[in-house]
Amino acid sequence: MLFLYLLFVLLVGLLLFLLFYWLIIDTEGAFLGRRVVVWLYDLTAHRYDAIKEFDTADEEHLVVRPLMAALADCPAPVILDVATGTGRVPFDLLQQPTFTGTLVAVDASSRMLAQARRKLAPYGTRCQLRRHAATPLPFPDAQFDAVTCLEALEFLPSDEDALREMTRVLRPGGVLMTTRRKGSEAHLFLHRHRSETQMVRLLQEMGLTQVHCQLWQINYDLIMARKSPT
Ligand SMILES: C[S@@+](CC[C@H](N)C(=O)[O-])C[C@H]1O[C@@H](n2cnc3c(N)ncnc32)[C@H](O)[C@@H]1O
Repeated sequence: MLFLYLLFVLLVGLLLFLLFYWLIIDTEGAFLGRRVVVWLYDLTAHRYDAIKEFDTADEEHLVVRPLMAALADCPAPVILDVATGTGRVPFDLLQQPTFTGTLVAVDASSRMLAQARRKLAPYGTRCQLRRHAATPLPFPDAQFDAVTCLEALEFLPSDEDALREMTRVLRPGGVLMTTRRKGSEAHLFLHRHRSETQMVRLLQEMGLTQVHCQLWQINYDLIMARKSPT
């Protein structure tokens, strides 16, 4: 009897541990709401860049070049980075001598933004940082030449609402750069996970054209699209 009781306690403990691991570690609070996600990012903000180990050459090749190529006809683009975290996209772009644009970057985590502020200090007013949720965005329609949102859609309360907001604030002909979670870990996001086909269809339904989904990292595809010029 005691053995069965111990086995039962062990099984319940194991199940609770797996549930905790899935909710907090695997999906980073995505099923527990925005406050939990942001709280977790606040907790780990000081270690984020060390964990990610961004490589300057990779960032230039994988983020900067495709974005600048898509904006080649725009001499001083105004770019919005949604869920900027520690300011990855602004930092990547502002380091480039050939980038002459400006940025606005929003994130809901004040501690992630504090890291971004420290990194972006040398660039003065060329990047404005704002603490704000991804939906709704605090900007008028058609304000930005490009909107970026990397490695964040799966953590937002609704990726569809967020993408709609990003599209709204893009000018006609403007560029969207975002990512799609993929690989075995992506399936842990259950119904929040979108296949490539589903993601491309969703973006096309929102009025985006030239939707292009390409291999980017083990866990992510990079998606580029353009808002219809009309
Ligand atoms: C994995 S990080 C990505 C950061 C950055 N884009 C990058 O590529 O390094 C996800 C970011 O999304 C932010 N975030 C999560 N939920 C958010 C929300 N509802 N609104 C705005 N930002 C949010 C987090 O604070 C975190 O900084």
